[in-house]
Order: sequence, then C-alpha cells, then structure tokens
Amino acid sequence: MKKILITGGAGFIGSHVVRLFVTKYPQYQIVNLDKLTYAGNLANLTDIENAPNYTFVKGDIVDADFIDNLFTEHQFDGVIHLAAESHVDRSITDPMAFVMTNVIGTCNLLNAAKTSWKDKMEGKRFYHVSTDEVYGELHNPEEFFLETTPYDPRSPYSASKASSDHFVRAYGSTYKLPVVITNCSNNYGPNHFPEKLLPLIIHNILHNKPLPVYGKGENVRDWLFVVDHARAIDTVFHDGKIGDTYNIGGFNEWKNIDIVMLVCKTMDEKLGREAGTSEKLITYVTDRAGHDLRYAIDATKIMNELGWKPSLQFEEGLEKTVDWFLNNQEWLDNVTSGNYQKYYTEMYTNR
Ligand code: NAD
Ligand code: TYD
Repeated sequence: MKKILITGGAGFIGSHVVRLFVTKYPQYQIVNLDKLTYAGNLANLTDIENAPNYTFVKGDIVDADFIDNLFTEHQFDGVIHLAAESHVDRSITDPMAFVMTNVIGTCNLLNAAKTSWKDKMEGKRFYHVSTDEVYGELHNPEEFFLETTPYDPRSPYSASKASSDHFVRAYGSTYKLPVVITNCSNNYGPNHFPEKLLPLIIHNILHNKPLPVYGKGENVRDWLFVVDHARAIDTVFHDGKIGDTYNIGGFNEWKNIDIVMLVCKTMDEKLGREAGTSEKLITYVTDRAGHDLRYAIDATKIMNELGWKPSLQFEEGLEKTVDWFLNNQEWLDNVTSGNYQKYYTEMYTNR
C-alpha cells in the first residue's frame, strides 16, 4: 500500500487533488497536511473526510522538527507538495511570509524526504506543484512559456516559487532525490478563495459591490479548470519522468477586462438580472505594483508525452464554476466572514 503526503490539501487546488486521490486510489493512504491558514478550509473536503484511506494532520511545513517527525511516523512513499502562500497581492505587502512557507517550508520537506528515503530512493517520488509565474511576463503575443524558458520572476510570490523550484531541482541533481515539477497557469473553479480575480468578481456581483479591475484590465492570463489541473497532477505523479518539468495550461488566454465582462454576462443570466446590470459595477483601480502583462503556457509536452489534455471548454468550466458559487453561498459567506476558521480552530489544536 502506498502512503502519500499531500501538503496544502485544504486549499483550493489541494482539495481537488486530495479528493481525486482518495476516491480514485482506495489502495493508497492519503495524509493531508495543512496549517489551515486563512486559505485552508476543511469544508472543502467534507464529502471525503471520513474515507478510510484519508487522514488530516494540522501542521506547519516551516516547522522542521514537526516535518521530520511526520516523515518518521508515516514513512511516506510519495509527496505531492502544494502548500504555499499563493496570492501575489499578499506577497507585495508581506513578502517574508512567502519566503518562510514557500522557500523554507519546501526545503524542510526536501530534507525530510532525503533523510527518510536515503537508503531507498527507488519507487519514491517528490512532486512539487509550481506556477507559470516563475517565467516572468510575456510581451510578444506569439510567445509562450516552454519548459526551457529561463526563469524571470518579478513578484515576491513568483520569486519564492522560483526559489523553491530551484531547490527541488538541486536536491534532484545533488542527492538524486526523485523529483518532478509542474508549472501551471491560473486555475479557476469550486473552492477558489475569493481574494483571487474570478471568485472575487462572482462574490461582488452577488453583493452588488464594485468589481475592481487593476490598471486598464489589459493584462492577460491563461485559465484552466481546477479539476483538469488535478487530473494533470495525477498523470504526472504516476507517469512523469523523474527530474523532468511539465508545463500545464489551458490554451485559453483572456484579457482581464474581457473575462470580467463574461462573468458579468453569465451572472446576469443566472440571476435573472437585466443584461448589462453587473457590468456597471466594474471599477478601474490603481494597478498592481510590477503587474505582469501576460502569461501563456505551451502545454504541448505533457499533452504529447503523457496524453493529458484539458477536458472542459472554458465556457462550460465557467458555467460550472458560477453554478457552484451560486449553490454554495454559505461556503462563500463563511469564508468572507471568517467563520470557517473559528469552527475548525476549535476542532484541531495547533501543533
Ligand atoms: P491556496 O492558497 O488556496 O491553498 C494553499 C494551502 O496551503 C492552504 O490550505 C493553506 O492552509 C496551506 N498552507 C499555507 N501555508 C502553509 C504552511 N506553512 N504549512 C502547511 N500548510 C500551509 O493555494 P492554491 O491556489 O490551491 O495553490 C496550491 C499550489 O498550487 C501552490 O503551491 C501554488 O503556488 C500552486 N499554483 C496555484 C495556481 C493557481 O492558479 N491558484 C496556479 C499554479 C500553481
Ligand atoms: P489573481 O487572481 O490574483 O491571480 P494572479 O495574479 O496570480 O494571476 O489575478 C488575476 C489577474 O486579475 C491579474 O492580472 C490581476 C488581476 N486582478 C484584478 O484586476 N482585480 C482584482 O481584484 C484581482 C484580485 C486581480
């Protein structure tokens, strides 16, 4: 039986990865390690929390002793590392939190895996989940990020992720740790924390609040449905080549203002509001410092070598997402009021 540590499993993407692994692989034991920061929410996992092959552990990857003990206790066969501080705007106001979790936390996990697996690396796997933001920004519309694109991180968030990617590769070359990395574009879907663009817009439309668009709204992002990212992680975890990097993306680029307009239109239809109602809430605000102009992924390698491809057209994914938020307004209200944290802090004592 395989024992797999998934870090950050109470967060947005992590919760989809945990659900996929717990349900698809009953023969695996899944340990979800999460600090339950503001972004961690166990309500994302209520449907599988009692599964016999699932265990939740509350803890901080920055605490090296705790991580070492966890590895000694569980003897993991694999790690899928998603725990991170993940929001660019927060990284601008508090960069050190990103250094601690994203860099030091990742190194603690690498050290623990190296110690735990030192006599037998065979069959083990350390999978680091990263972002396309490490490549910097694109200006030429013909250009895409490839696995060979040089790193050029420009925000404290992307710098911390780039640093962690470098450490993961360094442990692969120096200590022969069996590592694999993926760099993915912007995800969207259920459980998305409403500090990020799409859930924030959906939340604000519901509450008739202004829709803040940074600068002129001309920055471009590539969007991928979160379940398709989880499927890609499953594929790379099992079939990816050790030491390799795979880019994951949706071939689905949108200017921010265009995607905001599309959400407005979809929400007006769903809420039975007159066409154009939500658009009136759009408010152009001061641009983000160092705002990357465009991200675009070339995901040919994972498609050709591992046979993964996105399963959903964007319009379908967006509709599913809007429906999920409309059907889960209690989730949204609990997150925005902070109630979810009070509840789970009472359930799990800090380690
Ligand atoms: P998220 O912020 O929703 O979730 C992060 C999770 O990590 C939370 O549950 C949080 O409690 C946990 N966590 C944070 N600090 C921790 C610590 N010190 N110890 C233990 N747990 C901690 O993030 P997300 O959007 O789900 O992103 C997950 C991963 O995927 C991150 O590594 C991120 O860089 C990467 N990624 C995200 C996107 C995206 O569009 N969201 C795209 C590409 C890659
Ligand atoms: P975000 O969801 O924070 O993801 P990232 O910065 O990692 O790409 O932002 C997506 C895009 O939307 C980005 O170009 C910044 C922009 N944005 C806004 O215009 N308004 C907002 O309120 C937010 C949160 C983001």
